[in-house]
Amino acid sequence: MQGLSVDFSNLKNFVSDEEFSLMEEKIKTAHKMLQEKSGDGRDMLGWLDIPSNRNEEELNKIKEAALKIQKQCDVFVVIGIGGSYLGAKAMIDIFTNNFSNMLSLSERKFPQIIFAGNNMSGKYLRNLVEFLEDKDIAINVISKSGKTLEPAITFRVLKILMEQKYGIAGAAERIYVTTDQSNGLLHDIAKKNDYETFIIPDNVGGRYSVLTPVGLLPMAVANINIEDILDGAQFASHLFNEEKIEYNDCYKYAVYRNILYNKGKEIEILASYDPCFKYFIEWFKQLFGESEGKNGKGIYPSGALFTTDLHSMGQMIQEGKRNVFETVINVQLDRSFIELPKTEDNLDELNYLSGKSIEYINKQAFNGTLEAHVQGGVPNIIINLDDLNEYNIGQLIFFFEKACAVSGYILGVNPFNQPGVEAYKKNMMNLLNNDKE
Ligand code: PA5
Repeated sequence: MQGLSVDFSNLKNFVSDEEFSLMEEKIKTAHKMLQEKSGDGRDMLGWLDIPSNRNEEELNKIKEAALKIQKQCDVFVVIGIGGSYLGAKAMIDIFTNNFSNMLSLSERKFPQIIFAGNNMSGKYLRNLVEFLEDKDIAINVISKSGKTLEPAITFRVLKILMEQKYGIAGAAERIYVTTDQSNGLLHDIAKKNDYETFIIPDNVGGRYSVLTPVGLLPMAVANINIEDILDGAQFASHLFNEEKIEYNDCYKYAVYRNILYNKGKEIEILASYDPCFKYFIEWFKQLFGESEGKNGKGIYPSGALFTTDLHSMGQMIQEGKRNVFETVINVQLDRSFIELPKTEDNLDELNYLSGKSIEYINKQAFNGTLEAHVQGGVPNIIINLDDLNEYNIGQLIFFFEKACAVSGYILGVNPFNQPGVEAYKKNMMNLLNNDKE
């Protein structure tokens, strides 16, 4: 069942049919590189098969652990950075109440979920420790390499806190580790302490790991239907494996963004009209940023939440340098059920909108903005989701994962490595190692 469709009609003044046709050979080559696993990063293509080759035993283990976590804590802390948290955070924001952590347990029906270990702020960590002191907690520490400094520091501090609270054996009951099958310091710590452990497959990189236990365990704790997410991704994995570009919106998206890039549209804004997509946009930025930004090339991925950012970035998008294109996620079904009431005095002069749903008004903002931006020289691609549900978001995840891989190959980079990330780490470690003396 297809819940995702892509509308490229607003590109007609920006990309000609000839320009599009010229790319057909390139997309065929990229398709072949993925099919035959013959391109750069070929050993990191495990994400292609995750939705179809499910490990039922592992899924059951995830669901059982999620139930145990729901029973044993008030606050569930997910420790991880980059690909080891953005996907889970994105899904939890989309599928739970905007004020979830402020609701009572009986309203929320799962523990408060907090993400940590994704920064090096002393203030954040101090505030977190103070907040957790009188709470019942469980932790999921996630790191593929098992040596990333930010989560490692946070884990050390919270592990000590938990051991003081529950004793070593009690803490071990509440610490869940997601890491490499056989390597890394975190793997060793988990083994030594007998922590329940989930595996990140060798052939799946951090930014492609949302459909592994990295994303699935925190999602399950938040009562998100992980089977439906995987079903949607599985459907998309078949739909977007069509070699002929005219039937494959994912490949079309990769081709259009490449053509736009070569015409000077070097910044892509992923936009949504719902703030619950804030972290989905962050996930997208990481996926494309780390995959494409290399060898002096790459579309700069950015994001915007409308209408909020129309009051901050709207001017720049409408009339600034014409180096931007937009991809907009548009949820079509109105489930808001909230209408603007009528008032007797109409002092705010809003009665002309009374009886209209807020979602309808938001949709008119979308339509008006689309027209203004396109006329202002900003090409727009619309990704329509017919409803906001797990199945459709599973499709959206796979759509972007595959589009990113293909985009990287068309661009001529290896989308699956991230050599540039090491530069700052090397300098930081040199500076910190001076402190050893
Ligand atoms: O996509 C990536 O590979 C990175 O963003 C990693 O996910 C991030 O650096 C965290 O790495 P690790 O899971 O090894 O701690």
